[in-house]
Amino acid sequence: MKVIVTGGLGFIGSHTVVELWNSGFEPVIVDNLSNSNESVLSQLNELTGKQTTCYKIDCTEVDMLREIIREEKPEGIIHFAAHKAVGESVKEPLKYYGNNVNSTLVLINLMREIGIKNLIFSSSCTVYGEPDSIPVTEQNRRKKATSPYGNTKAICEDIIENSVHAYQCLRATSLRYFNPIGAHPSGLIGELPLGVPNNLVPYITQTAVGKRPKLTVFGNDYDTADGTCVRDFIHVVDLAQAHVAALNFLISSKSESLYEVFNIGTGSGNSVLELIQCFEEVNSVKLNYEFGSRREGDIEKIYGCADKARAILGWKSNKTLQEALADAYRWERRLLESN
Ligand code: WQD
Repeated sequence: MKVIVTGGLGFIGSHTVVELWNSGFEPVIVDNLSNSNESVLSQLNELTGKQTTCYKIDCTEVDMLREIIREEKPEGIIHFAAHKAVGESVKEPLKYYGNNVNSTLVLINLMREIGIKNLIFSSSCTVYGEPDSIPVTEQNRRKKATSPYGNTKAICEDIIENSVHAYQCLRATSLRYFNPIGAHPSGLIGELPLGVPNNLVPYITQTAVGKRPKLTVFGNDYDTADGTCVRDFIHVVDLAQAHVAALNFLISSKSESLYEVFNIGTGSGNSVLELIQCFEEVNSVKLNYEFGSRREGDIEKIYGCADKARAILGWKSNKTLQEALADAYRWERRLLESN
């Protein structure tokens, strides 16, 4: 069974391509290379031993996407392709609404037109804002997003949900990721942030290999055990496997039309400082970091309850924070060797 993976050369998309092959699916990548690198495709082929078809096109190009979907006749589509830099989205909202929302609209219109039923949407815990209660469940109300990036995720969830109910021809899930970290244990694929990393773990690994002089911890005066923010850090391979579980759920459903939201997290939280200490210990390195002022838009504490995914998808996270941080560092060292 073929599955189209938009953004399949990206961080989560590439790891999902591996897990799809491992589970007997044939992933077909659509990626415009705006936030990824063509070298990922050869790494994927080495890692999987398969030749993954990859169309280098933008998901807003309707006519080309229509031809691809007609040609490949996929069982489903996993939609990762989106801009995802929170800070950039504040400066460039139209770029984010134009790409993230339009690509979703194009996909749903083509799925209806061609008769593709199953859609998995890459959403984010950012739709919860500063949660009213933690751990966050899918029943937690969504809050006004703290960035245009987060708003595009909420808007796309609504577009999908409304389309499922109106047209009765789609089966869809929105997977709300918490904080994806780590890399494939092989060291062949991982996170490839362009420029200065926005996210914590790639900034840590680049500091540890000397690409960055030091890490700044954005605030240690929060109302948490050690004053630093708390997050639900989930291994990217666990996250990738959640997509396979969601796809199997949709394909095996007897319903003509369904929409479900799932939190994809570990169910527990770790602070930034705990993560740093864990990184130092598991990799036997001393990280150069200092405490700085808070970063605007950061929320204090969030982690997810993933009981619904466990009950309905039969999925739960298995890998530890230690494994994720060891895998992330191995990947960064491989990157350094290859440059
Ligand atoms: C985590 C913590 C920072 C960098 C974002 C998006 C979310 C998802 C994941 C896309 C925070 C602190 C970070 C640094 C630091 N993205 N930090 N120094 O903001 O929780 O989530 O990325 O899907 O949608 O919102 O992740 O890794 O940026 O930050 O102290 O150099 O690490 O303050 O507390 P975040 P993050």
